Amino acid sequence: MTIIETQQLKTIITYCHQKMDGEHSGHGFDHLARVAKLAAKINHSVHADEFLVLASAYLHDVVDEKITANPEGTWLEIAQILAANKVSAQKQAEIHANITQMSFAHTLKERPQLPLSGQVVRDADWLDALGAMGIGRAFYYGGKYGETIYDPDVKPRTHMSYEEYRNLNNETVINHFSEKLFRLASMLNTPAAKELAAPRVAFMHQFIDEFKQEWRAD
Ligand code: ADP
Ligand code: NI
Repeated sequence: MTIIETQQLKTIITYCHQKMDGEHSGHGFDHLARVAKLAAKINHSVHADEFLVLASAYLHDVVDEKITANPEGTWLEIAQILAANKVSAQKQAEIHANITQMSFAHTLKERPQLPLSGQVVRDADWLDALGAMGIGRAFYYGGKYGETIYDPDVKPRTHMSYEEYRNLNNETVINHFSEKLFRLASMLNTPAAKELAAPRVAFMHQFIDEFKQEWRAD
């Protein structure tokens, strides 16, 4: 990255830090920082533009409808900050494409072809939903939204629409693993992310097996 880009990234990080302050649904600044670190690691073998990868990683959840009541307004605020820090219109457009289209929820509506930098960040975001971190975040999220932990009579949904995904009435935390988390692992783009995902997926399978055994308590 150039000196100017490093400075621009610093400004973005400070903004994201402020925006995520007090965020308690598993999308705090710690998540953004891990996604940035994982994205940088994946990008060693992908070679997308480093500034676009890191800027998109830090910004990826700030415009999420769960974080802001006004995603378009929040983007305008971000665009203003980027422009004021002399980030080119072309780079702004790529960051916008990345952060508005990368979520799993989005893939239930359509399958957008993300720019390379966005593919790297999406893999990093999905990796942070897997493994011990993914298990922790799923229970944290489920608790916040009053989900049942587990009910053997509620079968996992195989073909979910976007609306069904956001409707938590029929959701259990344990079903979330097969409805989303194991699917994420099979939808990763880059070989580097697939390699990082393998032990996380194995750990989750082990967790689910152990959980169901202890649930029966026999
Ligand atoms: P996306 O926007 O990519 O669809 P989310 O922001 O909804 O993803 O999910 C972020 C985190 O919250 C992930 O770790 C995910 O597993 C967890 N999460 C999302 N929905 C649920 C749910 N219904 N139950 C438990 N955890 C969930
Ligand atoms: Ni995220």
